[in-house]
Amino acid sequence: MERPSSSPWSPSSWRTRPATQLPSYEDAQALRAALEEVALLPPLVTSWEVERLKEQLAEAAQGRRFLLQGGDCAESLDQCRAEAITNKLKILLQMSLILTYGLKRRVIRVGRFAGQYAKPRSEDSETRDGVTLPSYRGDLINHAEFEAAARAPDPALLLDGYQHAALTLNFIRSLVEGGFADLHHPEYWDLGFVGHSPRARELQDMVESIADSLRFLESLADTRVGEFSRVDFFTSHEGLHLPYEQAQTRRVPRREGWYNLGTHFPWLGMRTAQVGGAHVEYFRGISNPVAVKVGPTMTPDWLLDLLEVLDPDDEPGRLTLIHRFGHQGIATMLPPLLAAVRESGRRVLWCCDPMHGNTETTANGLKTRRFDNILSELEQAFEIHAAEGSFLGGVHFELSGDNVTECIGGARGLSEVDLSRAYRSRVDPRLNYEQAMEMALLIARKMAKANGFHAQS
Ligand code: PEP
Ligand code: CO
Repeated sequence: MERPSSSPWSPSSWRTRPATQLPSYEDAQALRAALEEVALLPPLVTSWEVERLKEQLAEAAQGRRFLLQGGDCAESLDQCRAEAITNKLKILLQMSLILTYGLKRRVIRVGRFAGQYAKPRSEDSETRDGVTLPSYRGDLINHAEFEAAARAPDPALLLDGYQHAALTLNFIRSLVEGGFADLHHPEYWDLGFVGHSPRARELQDMVESIADSLRFLESLADTRVGEFSRVDFFTSHEGLHLPYEQAQTRRVPRREGWYNLGTHFPWLGMRTAQVGGAHVEYFRGISNPVAVKVGPTMTPDWLLDLLEVLDPDDEPGRLTLIHRFGHQGIATMLPPLLAAVRESGRRVLWCCDPMHGNTETTANGLKTRRFDNILSELEQAFEIHAAEGSFLGGVHFELSGDNVTECIGGARGLSEVDLSRAYRSRVDPRLNYEQAMEMALLIARKMAKANGFHAQS
C-alpha cells in the first residue's frame, strides 16, 4: 500500500481514496452550489482558538489538565433552542467543576455541539414492513421520518446545518462572554435539577466545599480569582461528511497549513479510520487537534499506522485517542494498545468513551446503556492506565442537560419501563442531567481517594 503520508495533500485529496459512510446525492448541481456557499460564508471558529485548544490538549497529555468532552450523540436542528443550549453548557460546567475538584487538574470543556449533525450508520438502508429506505444519517444529510422524501439526502441541509451550528455557537459565545462560565456565576452552583436525586446531599456538600475553598483563596489573595472568571468552551463533531468538512477547510493569514474552521476539534470515527481511506487522508492534512475513536477491532499495528499518518511529527496536543471497548472488553483490549503506543515513544492524550461499547437493545427494541456498566468501564480505564504506567487524561460522554430517560440506572434507579417516558434521542442513548452529575461525582470521589484527599465530607 502506498504510504498516504508520502503523497501531496490538499483539502480535496481525500477524493482519490476509497470513502465509506458518505451519502449519495441525486442532484449534483444543487450539492455543488450548497458547498460553494458554505465555503464562502465566514468560518465558525478561528485558528487562534484552535491553536489554544491544541496547547491545552498538550498540557492534558502531560497530566496537567483533564479533557471533558460531552453532548448529544446526534444534535438535531430543531433542538437549536435557547434552553437546550443553556442546559448543555450548564451540565458541562457543573461536571467540570466537580472533576476539577476531584482530579486537581484544570478541565478543558469540549462540547459535542455546534455541528454534530452527521452520523455513521452500520446499515445503508432500513426496512420496515417490507419498505426499504436509506438510513437516517443525521440532520445534516436527511430527515429521521420513515418516508422516501424525508430520507433522500438533501443538499439544502448542508447550509441549514452550517447556519444552525453558527446560531448555536453564537449563543454559546454570548453566554460565556456575558459571564455564564465565571466561577462566581450562580449557574455553576445551582443544583436545582438534582434536587430530588438521592445523591443531592452529596453533590451539595461537594459544591459547598468547593465554594468554601474559593472564598478562602480569595480572602487570602484579597481579590477575586481572575483565573476562574473566564473559561473556554470548545466545539467538536465527528468529521464524517467530507465534502462539508472540505468546504470549511481554509488557509489563514500568517500561519502555515490548512485549518478546518467549522469546529475546533474534529474526531475520526471507528468506522472511517482505515489507513489509506478518504477520511484518514482528509484528517492528516488539517492543522487542528484531532481525535480518533479506538474500538474493539483496533489492532496495535493499525493504531501505530494511524499515529504515523496523522501525527508524523509527534506534535504536542495533536492527537487524542478515545477508547471505547465496553466494560467487558476494556481489560483485555486496552493494555496491548497502551503498550504499543508506549513503546513507540509517542505522546498522545488518552480519553475514555464509556458509552459506545456499552450499548444494548431492550426487549422493546430501544437502545439503552446501563449506568453501572458505563461507570465500570470508566473506573477500569483509570485503573488500567495507572497499572500500565499511563494515565487517563479525559472522558467522553453522550449526555443531555435535560431530564431524558434513555440510560438505565443511576441513583434514582431508572428501569427499562421508565425509558419510554422521555426517550428523545434519535440515535444513541444519553445520560440525563442527574446521571451525568452522579457520574462526575463518583469519578471525582474515586480519584480524590486515589490521590489521597477527601473530595467531600
Ligand atoms: C459516536 O461518537 O456517536 C459514535 C458513532 O462513536 P463510535 O465511532 O465510537 O461508534
Ligand atoms: Co453515539
